[in-house]
Amino acid sequence: MKNFDDLKKKCLGCQKCELSKTRTNVVFEDGNRQAKIMLIGEAPGANEDETGLPFVGRAGKLLTKILTEHGIDREKDIYICNTVKCRPPENRVPTDFEKQQCREYLDSQIEYVNPRIIILCGMTAVKSMLDTKLSISKIRGKFFDGPNFSKMIPIFHPSYLLRNHSTEEGSPRFLTNQDIEKIKNELVSL
Ligand code: URA
Repeated sequence: MKNFDDLKKKCLGCQKCELSKTRTNVVFEDGNRQAKIMLIGEAPGANEDETGLPFVGRAGKLLTKILTEHGIDREKDIYICNTVKCRPPENRVPTDFEKQQCREYLDSQIEYVNPRIIILCGMTAVKSMLDTKLSISKIRGKFFDGPNFSKMIPIFHPSYLLRNHSTEEGSPRFLTNQDIEKIKNELVSL
Protein backbone atom coordinates (compact mmCIF):
# COMPACT_ATOMS: atom_id res chain seq x y z
CA MET A 1 0.00 0.00 0.00
CA LYS A 2 1.47 3.36 -1.07
CA ASN A 3 0.25 5.50 1.79
CA PHE A 4 -2.27 5.87 4.57
CA ASP A 5 -4.93 7.50 2.37
CA ASP A 6 -4.67 4.68 -0.18
CA LEU A 7 -5.18 2.20 2.63
CA LYS A 8 -8.24 4.09 3.86
CA LYS A 9 -9.66 4.24 0.34
CA LYS A 10 -9.18 0.50 -0.08
CA CYS A 11 -10.84 -0.15 3.27
CA LEU A 12 -13.82 2.11 2.46
CA GLY A 13 -14.50 -0.04 -0.61
CA CYS A 14 -13.81 -3.37 1.07
CA GLN A 15 -16.20 -6.25 0.41
CA LYS A 16 -14.16 -9.08 1.83
CA CYS A 17 -16.78 -10.22 4.33
CA GLU A 18 -20.54 -10.21 4.86
CA LEU A 19 -20.39 -7.16 7.14
CA SER A 20 -19.90 -5.04 4.03
CA LYS A 21 -23.44 -5.93 2.95
CA THR A 22 -25.15 -4.53 6.04
CA ARG A 23 -22.95 -1.54 6.86
CA THR A 24 -23.93 2.08 6.26
CA ASN A 25 -20.38 3.39 6.61
CA VAL A 26 -16.95 1.85 7.05
CA VAL A 27 -15.52 3.09 10.36
CA PHE A 28 -11.83 3.46 9.65
CA GLU A 29 -10.31 5.83 12.19
CA ASP A 30 -10.46 8.94 14.32
CA GLY A 31 -7.87 11.09 16.05
CA ASN A 32 -4.29 11.86 15.21
CA ARG A 33 -2.32 9.64 12.82
CA GLN A 34 0.87 10.94 14.44
CA ALA A 35 -0.19 10.17 18.01
CA LYS A 36 2.01 8.18 20.36
CA ILE A 37 -1.02 6.37 21.75
CA MET A 38 -3.29 4.14 19.68
CA LEU A 39 -6.53 2.64 20.97
CA ILE A 40 -8.05 -0.48 19.43
CA GLY A 41 -11.69 -1.24 20.23
CA GLU A 42 -13.94 -4.09 19.15
CA ALA A 43 -16.24 -3.05 16.31
CA PRO A 44 -18.50 -0.17 15.29
CA GLY A 45 -21.97 0.02 16.83
CA ALA A 46 -25.08 1.76 15.47
CA ASN A 47 -23.86 5.35 16.02
CA GLU A 48 -20.47 4.57 14.55
CA ASP A 49 -22.04 2.90 11.52
CA GLU A 50 -24.22 6.00 11.07
CA THR A 51 -21.37 8.53 11.34
CA GLY A 52 -18.35 6.60 10.08
CA LEU A 53 -16.42 7.44 13.26
CA PRO A 54 -15.31 5.07 16.05
CA PHE A 55 -16.49 5.46 19.65
CA VAL A 56 -19.14 8.15 19.22
CA GLY A 57 -22.08 6.37 20.92
CA ARG A 58 -22.69 6.03 24.67
CA ALA A 59 -19.57 3.94 25.26
CA GLY A 60 -17.54 6.31 23.11
CA LYS A 61 -18.76 9.34 25.04
CA LEU A 62 -17.71 7.69 28.29
CA LEU A 63 -14.32 6.83 26.79
CA THR A 64 -13.85 10.43 25.64
CA LYS A 65 -14.88 11.69 29.11
CA ILE A 66 -12.37 9.41 30.87
CA LEU A 67 -9.56 10.38 28.49
CA THR A 68 -10.37 14.08 28.91
CA GLU A 69 -10.41 13.74 32.71
CA HIS A 70 -6.83 12.49 32.43
CA GLY A 71 -5.77 15.31 30.12
CA ILE A 72 -5.77 13.18 26.97
CA ASP A 73 -7.25 15.05 24.01
CA ARG A 74 -9.16 12.61 21.81
CA GLU A 75 -8.36 14.46 18.59
CA LYS A 76 -4.75 15.39 19.36
CA ASP A 77 -3.18 12.77 21.63
CA ILE A 78 -4.60 9.49 20.42
CA TYR A 79 -5.42 7.48 17.29
CA ILE A 80 -8.58 5.38 17.56
CA CYS A 81 -9.75 2.40 15.51
CA ASN A 82 -11.33 -1.05 15.89
CA THR A 83 -10.44 -4.67 15.14
CA VAL A 84 -13.15 -4.69 12.45
CA LYS A 85 -14.22 -1.64 10.48
CA CYS A 86 -17.86 -2.55 9.78
CA ARG A 87 -20.71 -2.99 12.24
CA PRO A 88 -21.67 -6.57 13.03
CA PRO A 89 -25.49 -6.94 12.94
CA GLU A 90 -27.12 -6.54 16.39
CA ASN A 91 -23.68 -5.58 17.71
CA ARG A 92 -22.64 -9.20 17.99
CA VAL A 93 -18.96 -9.97 18.56
CA PRO A 94 -17.09 -10.13 15.23
CA THR A 95 -16.24 -13.66 14.07
CA ASP A 96 -12.66 -14.90 13.68
CA PHE A 97 -13.17 -14.85 9.90
CA GLU A 98 -14.31 -11.21 9.96
CA LYS A 99 -11.35 -10.26 12.14
CA GLN A 100 -8.98 -12.09 9.81
CA GLN A 101 -10.35 -10.34 6.74
CA CYS A 102 -9.97 -6.96 8.44
CA ARG A 103 -6.56 -7.71 9.86
CA GLU A 104 -4.56 -6.24 6.97
CA TYR A 105 -6.15 -2.84 7.70
CA LEU A 106 -5.42 -3.01 11.41
CA ASP A 107 -1.83 -4.17 10.84
CA SER A 108 -1.22 -1.36 8.34
CA GLN A 109 -2.75 1.19 10.70
CA ILE A 110 -0.34 0.06 13.42
CA GLU A 111 2.54 0.22 10.95
CA TYR A 112 1.68 3.73 9.70
CA VAL A 113 0.86 5.26 13.09
CA ASN A 114 3.78 3.43 14.74
CA PRO A 115 2.45 4.15 18.24
CA ARG A 116 4.53 3.77 21.38
CA ILE A 117 1.56 2.55 23.41
CA ILE A 118 -1.36 0.49 22.10
CA ILE A 119 -4.43 0.41 24.34
CA LEU A 120 -6.40 -2.81 23.86
CA CYS A 121 -9.91 -1.80 24.75
CA GLY A 122 -11.88 -4.89 25.80
CA MET A 123 -11.49 -8.61 25.22
CA THR A 124 -11.97 -8.65 21.44
CA ALA A 125 -9.02 -6.32 20.93
CA VAL A 126 -7.00 -8.29 23.49
CA LYS A 127 -7.69 -11.60 21.71
CA SER A 128 -6.66 -10.07 18.39
CA MET A 129 -3.33 -8.81 19.66
CA LEU A 130 -2.32 -11.08 22.54
CA ASP A 131 -2.07 -14.83 22.75
CA THR A 132 -3.80 -15.25 26.10
CA LYS A 133 -6.67 -17.12 27.68
CA LEU A 134 -6.66 -14.93 30.77
CA SER A 135 -9.65 -12.71 31.48
CA ILE A 136 -9.48 -8.96 31.10
CA SER A 137 -9.60 -8.48 34.90
CA LYS A 138 -6.38 -10.49 35.18
CA ILE A 139 -4.41 -8.66 32.48
CA ARG A 140 -5.77 -5.09 32.45
CA GLY A 141 -3.27 -2.45 33.47
CA LYS A 142 -0.28 -4.63 32.53
CA PHE A 143 2.15 -3.82 29.74
CA PHE A 144 2.95 -6.41 27.05
CA ASP A 145 5.47 -6.21 24.21
CA GLY A 146 3.83 -4.92 21.03
CA PRO A 147 4.79 -4.46 17.37
CA ASN A 148 7.93 -2.45 16.61
CA PHE A 149 8.96 -2.04 20.27
CA SER A 150 5.60 -0.58 21.28
CA LYS A 151 3.87 -1.55 24.51
CA MET A 152 0.32 -2.90 24.61
CA ILE A 153 -1.95 -2.49 27.60
CA PRO A 154 -5.43 -3.97 27.99
CA ILE A 155 -8.17 -1.88 29.65
CA PHE A 156 -11.84 -2.56 30.36
CA HIS A 157 -14.18 -1.70 27.48
CA PRO A 158 -16.30 1.40 28.21
CA SER A 159 -19.51 -0.61 27.54
CA TYR A 160 -18.55 -2.70 30.56
CA LEU A 161 -17.97 0.47 32.57
CA LEU A 162 -21.44 1.71 31.55
CA ARG A 163 -22.89 -1.38 33.22
CA ASN A 164 -20.76 -0.86 36.35
CA HIS A 165 -21.31 2.65 37.64
CA SER A 166 -19.36 2.55 40.89
CA THR A 167 -16.21 4.63 41.13
CA GLU A 168 -15.28 3.17 44.52
CA GLU A 169 -11.78 1.89 45.14
CA GLY A 170 -11.31 -1.43 43.31
CA SER A 171 -14.28 -0.88 40.95
CA PRO A 172 -13.73 -1.28 37.17
CA ARG A 173 -14.02 2.49 36.73
CA PHE A 174 -11.48 3.13 39.51
CA LEU A 175 -9.08 0.59 38.00
CA THR A 176 -9.50 2.13 34.55
CA ASN A 177 -8.53 5.53 35.96
CA GLN A 178 -5.40 3.89 37.37
CA ASP A 179 -4.65 2.27 34.00
CA ILE A 180 -4.94 5.58 32.14
CA GLU A 181 -2.61 7.25 34.66
CA LYS A 182 -0.15 4.39 34.18
CA ILE A 183 -0.26 4.95 30.41
CA LYS A 184 0.41 8.66 30.89
CA ASN A 185 3.36 7.97 33.18
CA GLU A 186 4.79 5.43 30.74
CA LEU A 187 4.54 7.95 27.94
CA VAL A 188 6.59 10.47 29.91
CA SER A 189 9.34 7.89 30.46
CA LEU A 190 9.57 6.87 26.77
N1 URA B 1 -17.35 -0.05 20.76
C1 URA B 1 -16.20 -0.34 20.12
O1 URA B 1 -15.50 -1.27 20.46
N2 URA B 1 -15.84 0.44 19.12
C2 URA B 1 -16.56 1.48 18.71
O2 URA B 1 -16.14 2.15 17.78
C3 URA B 1 -17.74 1.76 19.40
C4 URA B 1 -18.12 0.98 20.42
